[in-house]
Amino acid sequence: MTMQSDSTLATPLTGVSGAQVPGFAFDPTDPWTVTFQTGLDRAGLTGRRVYEVGVGSGANIAFMLRHCGAAMVLGSDLDPRLPLLAQRLVAEVAPDLVHRFRPISGSVSLIDTPVAMGEVTAVDAVVACLPQVPDPEDALYSQFHLSQLAAAAALRDRAADHIAHYYPWTAFQDYPFNALGLGLNEALLRRVRAYAPRAEVVLNFGCRIGKMALFALFEANRYRPEELASCIVRQHQGTDISFFMAVEAAMRGTGCEQDLVCEFYADPAGKWPLSASEAKLLLDADPATPIYHEICVLRGYPVP
Ligand SMILES: C[S@@+](CC[C@H](N)C(=O)[O-])C[C@H]1O[C@@H](n2cnc3c(N)ncnc32)[C@H](O)[C@@H]1O
Repeated sequence: MTMQSDSTLATPLTGVSGAQVPGFAFDPTDPWTVTFQTGLDRAGLTGRRVYEVGVGSGANIAFMLRHCGAAMVLGSDLDPRLPLLAQRLVAEVAPDLVHRFRPISGSVSLIDTPVAMGEVTAVDAVVACLPQVPDPEDALYSQFHLSQLAAAAALRDRAADHIAHYYPWTAFQDYPFNALGLGLNEALLRRVRAYAPRAEVVLNFGCRIGKMALFALFEANRYRPEELASCIVRQHQGTDISFFMAVEAAMRGTGCEQDLVCEFYADPAGKWPLSASEAKLLLDADPATPIYHEICVLRGYPVP
């Protein structure tokens, strides 16, 4: 996943001549994409019907059709431009397979339109890489942030990559894992469970909130988690990590601090763990200090 903040559809993707895709969409050479696709490769998608929530550039659609041998892929995105761009990418890189991709048009949050819900009922797997950080402009999140850190979250210009990285926190307050930045992902698990109770889920995560929390999210929603791929990546310098500091601060003095350990590292091998607060201290001293975190792909099997 590239983290540029260009405000236009400006970054041509490898393999898509002339097509303009947002800078936040997956770049096939980026470690987020490589890791996600390693997980998709191991997910046993051959001959299966798959729905991707948040198709972005369509890089994963092309990969699932061409490399994984998926029988049919459907996909939608909150950004209404992306399903059609994804279709262009697939037409260009896998013209013989484009008839096996069905883009769901319009702006679709999760699977919250009648067409998307209808399509999901017939799939074997749902895949996604969704935001795990509350929108800094969200009113409830600002309140939480101020109460824990006595300073407002750094507001960035609302850039083109905004919806790829942030989600409206208040809208997902009914989901317990929202407190950990996992409300959007939890809402997806609940919907898949309701509309496609036998479908597996394959989700790509940043593990900054701690892998224990990610496994707990699956188990609490009656999915048995299995790790399919993992990699340590550099924390992008432009991404604010104060949400994780606020969560750590909220845990302090509760006696349950050990139940929630944010996971950053000072080294690319992941041998020198740092809390979010320690990572922020290093970044405050020198914003160019490299800080790392794990990303992983988890498959969830529905538990009857
Ligand atoms: C990190 S990008 C992943 C992109 C994609 N998998 C690719 O290959 O380019 C996250 C994607 O999720 C979309 N997204 C964010 N919030 C969403 C939501 N509530 N429902 C559906 N898609 C969403 C974004 O527009 C973006 O395309």
